[in-house]
Amino acid sequence: MRIISRAPAVQALSLRWKRAGIKVGFVPTMGYLHEGHLSLVRTARRHIGKKGKVVVSIYVNPTQFGPTEDLAKYPRDLKRDLELCRETGVDLVFTPGDSDMYPGKAERNYSTYVVEEKLSQTMEGTARPVHFRGVTTVVAKLFNLVLPDVAVFGQKDFQQAAIIRRMVCDLNFPVKIIVAPTLRERDGLAMSSRNKYLLGDLRRQATVLWCALKIAKTIVDKSKSVPAADLKSDLKKLIQIEPDAKLDYVEFFDPKTLLPVASVKPGTHMALAVYIGRTRLIDNARL
Ligand code: PAJ
Repeated sequence: MRIISRAPAVQALSLRWKRAGIKVGFVPTMGYLHEGHLSLVRTARRHIGKKGKVVVSIYVNPTQFGPTEDLAKYPRDLKRDLELCRETGVDLVFTPGDSDMYPGKAERNYSTYVVEEKLSQTMEGTARPVHFRGVTTVVAKLFNLVLPDVAVFGQKDFQQAAIIRRMVCDLNFPVKIIVAPTLRERDGLAMSSRNKYLLGDLRRQATVLWCALKIAKTIVDKSKSVPAADLKSDLKKLIQIEPDAKLDYVEFFDPKTLLPVASVKPGTHMALAVYIGRTRLIDNARL
């Protein structure tokens, strides 16, 4: 397994692979890897075959964090991440630093961003105003460096995956986007690097996101059509039962347009963000 941190070096290697006709499967991450990330690596491998190369990037991208968010304390453990990548059969890990990804930013010599203007206007986009601009910019840059044939994203970040798909389509990136299912702990909690912060009883309380999704599904299965406002207020009450849980948003929307719906039916998508103590968790599912 190779480890490269310089941007030009990774691009040179990708170009060599491309010229040799070797397929590249790519999984961008911010590290602190868990089984969810590794499942994306296995999906990438399935898509490109034994002869292809699987590339994982590990980079905590500063431009997708707002000024009051957890950039500085985002969990990091590169040594362990590299071991996991090696065990999972990754061929190349790209570990850039800020000076590789945003050269000149400190001197204000970095000024180009990629902005998706529709799908990023709701949910995470409302709650975290600069977030998706940072995600689309860094993913576009990573695609230009890694030159993947296939890139795999997790359904866990449903809106992110939809925005990346749109960017790839709108800007003609020659990359096939695969969206892979959310991996969960046994009690339903979606795996996330941020789960590390859920100490003591917070870990138990965090299952309220999965409970809310399951209850919403049961209600919609039974009644076939439910006013979104009613379901929202019921779920808010449910979440408030947990002493350290605070609902940020819950939305019901069309999975293609991400536009909110007034009545929730089977097939409608639900997403929610909940603070558990100081940790903000997100989850989503098709109802
Ligand atoms: P990160 O949060 O590290 O996630 C990397 C990829 O893993 C994303 O595609 C995410 O959806 C996926 N993922 C996270 N938890 C998952 C789970 N439980 N099951 C399946 N997949 C899961 O998302 C980012 O990083 C960044 O925004 C990035 C795209 C790397 C750009 O900086």
